[in-house]
Amino acid sequence: MADRAVTMEKLVALCKARGIIFPGSEIYGGMGNTWDYGPVGVEIKNNIKRAWWKRFVSESDNSYGVDAAILMNSRVWEASGHTTSFSDPKMDCKKCKTRHRADNLIEAYSKGAVNPDTMSNEEMEKYIEEHHINCPNCGNFDWTNIRTFNLMFETSRGVTDESQNKIYLRPETAQGEFVNFLNVQRTARAKVPFGIAQVGKAFRNEITPGNFIFRTIEFEQMEHQWFCKEGTDEAFYNEYKEKAMSFLVDLGFDKEHLRFHDHDKLAHYARAACDIQYLYPMGWQELNGIHNRTDYDLSRHQEFSGKTLTYVDPMNGERYIPYVIEYSIGADRLMLAVLSEAYDEEKLENGEVRNVMHFHPAIAAYKAAILPLQKNLAPKAKEFLVRLKKLFSVTYDEAGSIGKRYRRQDEIGTPYCITVDFDTLEDGTMTVRDRDTMEQQRLTAEQIIAFLTEKCAF
Ligand code: GAP
Repeated sequence: MADRAVTMEKLVALCKARGIIFPGSEIYGGMGNTWDYGPVGVEIKNNIKRAWWKRFVSESDNSYGVDAAILMNSRVWEASGHTTSFSDPKMDCKKCKTRHRADNLIEAYSKGAVNPDTMSNEEMEKYIEEHHINCPNCGNFDWTNIRTFNLMFETSRGVTDESQNKIYLRPETAQGEFVNFLNVQRTARAKVPFGIAQVGKAFRNEITPGNFIFRTIEFEQMEHQWFCKEGTDEAFYNEYKEKAMSFLVDLGFDKEHLRFHDHDKLAHYARAACDIQYLYPMGWQELNGIHNRTDYDLSRHQEFSGKTLTYVDPMNGERYIPYVIEYSIGADRLMLAVLSEAYDEEKLENGEVRNVMHFHPAIAAYKAAILPLQKNLAPKAKEFLVRLKKLFSVTYDEAGSIGKRYRRQDEIGTPYCITVDFDTLEDGTMTVRDRDTMEQQRLTAEQIIAFLTEKCAF
């Protein structure tokens, strides 16, 4: 990232200083891998989720949303395979007692040149041995063998010990879409091909090195399952690859910072799988996944639940279990990519550096900031603020010089600053300043509303 000013340290510091993201449980010394979104951050994240939903549900011809329970019948996780095989290969350093993922050690050591996804546990152990990969925490070379730990968080339900039942915090939202396949199909009278989407929390007991909100133990997923007939799956898989990429480009991502990464090693049931990787401050990493999962998920749920999950084609009465093209993206991981992409340090002609976040206006926390030039113009400015708040997320600032107020808004990525001055009292016009070009124009209240409506659409 030689040409980019962004580093993870700068992002973390900016996020904390500007109310975007705080360390979780901070006053108690924090809790590893947890983060809290602040007033600005929650607006940005909600806008990301809204933009995704609009694109993949509202604007889709045949996609429907659900909001399924986080706690599901434990049989769901048996059917999905999570209870038996949702695990990471972990090794403990016998010297400093820290735990590490063997695949991460290999990836970091080889700088991404070796893909541990294609290796068995034995092959990973051999690679670590042969290349003498030391513990990143204490620098020693004294590893246990690889052991696998299930990533699901367990809890229990029931009021007495006898009635306790082990249940899990869902590790992905996808199963809520699969188990509701027939409910949605029937109630929406949906014809295959159609989609079911969900946005919600997922939980994984990850052991990871930092990287801010990239990999956390609690995160949000935005998942979309496209149910289609076998034979049409390949074309839909390619279509979803393109749709997933276009969504990112339309959000303002530089194409040079995105790439497809096809998986070499496929799950036994999968026909194809790829990620879109983003060039994060720490390097190329998975941003989202697109998978052709065949009829595996519905077949497994049919087997484990004993309920028939076949679709009946209304045209010819043909019965079949649809194939699934899954598109899955983490809202927090996308947030980190959006923050990294937006971050800029701009050298001004006077030698000063301007910190600015170039968010797409649809994603910015506030579409505009209303700034009275002087405090005695506050009543006029607040009059417009009340009107604008009914239409957009906007903020207000009357503290400090106008230049300082512009800079504060630049740092949180507010695309437009609207200054109310003495001319406003005369002719009703206000100065609208563009965050990126810093150019200004005078517009009336009605013109500003039309202007923001056009610029902030996604
Ligand atoms: N249903 C498929 C599924 O869950 P995944 O590759 O494990 O597939 C999908 O997760 C996406 O969820 C990832 O591409 C990533 O964006 C996000 N994600 C996964 N684990 C995460 C974690 N621990 N923290 C933040 N985001 C995560």
